[in-house]
Amino acid sequence: MCGIFGYVGAKNSVDIVLNGLHRLEYRGYDSAGIAGLHQGKIVDCKEVGKVDTLEKEVKEAGIVLDVAIAQTRWATHGKPSQVNAHPHFDENRSLALVHNGIIENHEVLKRYLQEEKGVTFLSETDTEVIAHLISSYYEGDILNAVQQAVARLEGSYAIALIHRDFPDQIIAVAHESPLVVGIGRKEAFVASDTHAFAAHTREVVFLSNSEIAVVSPEKLEIFDSSMEQIEKQTEQLSIVVEDVSKGKFEHFTLKEIYEQPQAIRNAMLSRYLEDYGTAVLEELNFETHELQGIERILIIACGTSWHAGYIAAYMIEEKARIPVQVEISSEFRYKNPIVQPGTCVIAISQSGETADTLAAMRELKAKGAKVIAICNSHGSSMAREADACIAQRAGPEIGVASTKAFTSQLVILALLTLLLARMRHMDKHEGQAFLENLQKLPDQVKKVLEQAPHIEAIARQYAHHENFFFLGRGYMFPTSLEGALKLKEISYINANGYPAGEMKHGPIALINEECPTVALCGNKATYDKLLSNLNEIKARNGKIIAIAEESQKGLEKVADAIIRVPDSLDELASIPTTVVTQLLAYYIAHARGANIDQPRNLAKSVTVE
Ligand code: F6R
Repeated sequence: MCGIFGYVGAKNSVDIVLNGLHRLEYRGYDSAGIAGLHQGKIVDCKEVGKVDTLEKEVKEAGIVLDVAIAQTRWATHGKPSQVNAHPHFDENRSLALVHNGIIENHEVLKRYLQEEKGVTFLSETDTEVIAHLISSYYEGDILNAVQQAVARLEGSYAIALIHRDFPDQIIAVAHESPLVVGIGRKEAFVASDTHAFAAHTREVVFLSNSEIAVVSPEKLEIFDSSMEQIEKQTEQLSIVVEDVSKGKFEHFTLKEIYEQPQAIRNAMLSRYLEDYGTAVLEELNFETHELQGIERILIIACGTSWHAGYIAAYMIEEKARIPVQVEISSEFRYKNPIVQPGTCVIAISQSGETADTLAAMRELKAKGAKVIAICNSHGSSMAREADACIAQRAGPEIGVASTKAFTSQLVILALLTLLLARMRHMDKHEGQAFLENLQKLPDQVKKVLEQAPHIEAIARQYAHHENFFFLGRGYMFPTSLEGALKLKEISYINANGYPAGEMKHGPIALINEECPTVALCGNKATYDKLLSNLNEIKARNGKIIAIAEESQKGLEKVADAIIRVPDSLDELASIPTTVVTQLLAYYIAHARGANIDQPRNLAKSVTVE
């Protein structure tokens, strides 16, 4: 969380840095700030709220900067306020710095600085400690001071700093938080991700493991934590600068929901062989015998990506007959995992930067497991560190709530399932039938999107309720978790995803006419059982919105509203059904006037624990 950006070069720093900051806003948006050098002095501007607010203020104040750094914040320590916004400074404002991450020992360091050095702190942040600590070591050699200070930091950090004695450089340090340097012609950039400066340069160097970089227009020097200078290869970005406008849509979230037919096609493109009824995943650079030798699969992910993994677990066990364990990364990373030989790890992450998934993945690699990542972000930490990374190709997802990234993850997981299943028990004809159903998905999703007016009308009718249940069985259980998450995060309504068969073990006590149930019926294998569960809800005056396939009968008596989706295989039904739940959540949130693209308290990339 938090996006940081820096620029050193001859161009207008303010414009470049603010543009870069806009592109990083998905990482946090509760406050933003910029600082730079002008006529030998550090000048800054900080505002609560979005980058737009900062930009307005900077323009009105006519701020001009030579070298500049900036940050858009997602608060961890200290509430969103002007004083807690970054950059932070030392006491005599000789340096300014921005930070992404958490300094876990900041309390100890703060006490040390207050008691031993007499420092007065202005903010409640952990970051301010870094500024004072560097200053306390500074005796004319800024690099040395930074190195001594970061040696005392515990936690994760990506830092960019400027010092008034070194007007043509930015010092950048990264440890377990992403930071990348972009090298241009007589100019250089520092940012939390490559998209922020991709319009200016494609030549990049990723920093990691406490590396310290001295970034200036003419050269880049990188040192390890013991101050040995190291050579790092520059990498050439292959990404194109993608369109990040809303087009004709009112919100990015809605645009991204509508992009799903294309995102699904992109996820499948050149990744299957119809004649053999199997998948071809070129990025999966494992030997055939390694794939054949997989005895168990461990899936790690967070949030929506975890839901994709949960659905995949049902699919892989059923189709490829490989036992699968699905773990929430933030829980898993603090277990002492048993990683038996033959375990293959699948790490799923839209951003490829989620701190918990990254840490869990590193631990599993250290234990000798092979890791396949499924990521949407090119060049992300996870994509680079995994043994293989299958790109989602969903295009940038700007809305904080994940939509098209989720369905494209499901498509890739279905292809992976097919590949593993065909190497085991699945015959060619079943493989071909599976592929045929996969190929139908873009059109099926289009059909769901055509029903938006019907879904919107239902959403408006139910938008005033404060509690919802999302129920399903089989594949529809994890799909119900995703439906509930989407509703709660964008509309702030309390929504529970639950296995329908579990309701009678407690939660049915919550059912009354004020608590509607969204019933996900697409798991045909358990449809009759689900109908009984729905009748139990009806008998308690619960209202039911059913999402059912066209050929599913028997709902008319029990459901108050029905939304139909095209018939598909149970293992693929989560995709059209999810598109309905996304639209339902979107229109409910819209009716309630919520901030759909940037819900409160959230950020798109969760780079802190
Ligand atoms: C919900 C959502 C989050 C993310 C989660 C993991 O709509 O977007 O729950 O899925 O933060 O993010 P990634 O996939 O980037 O690891």
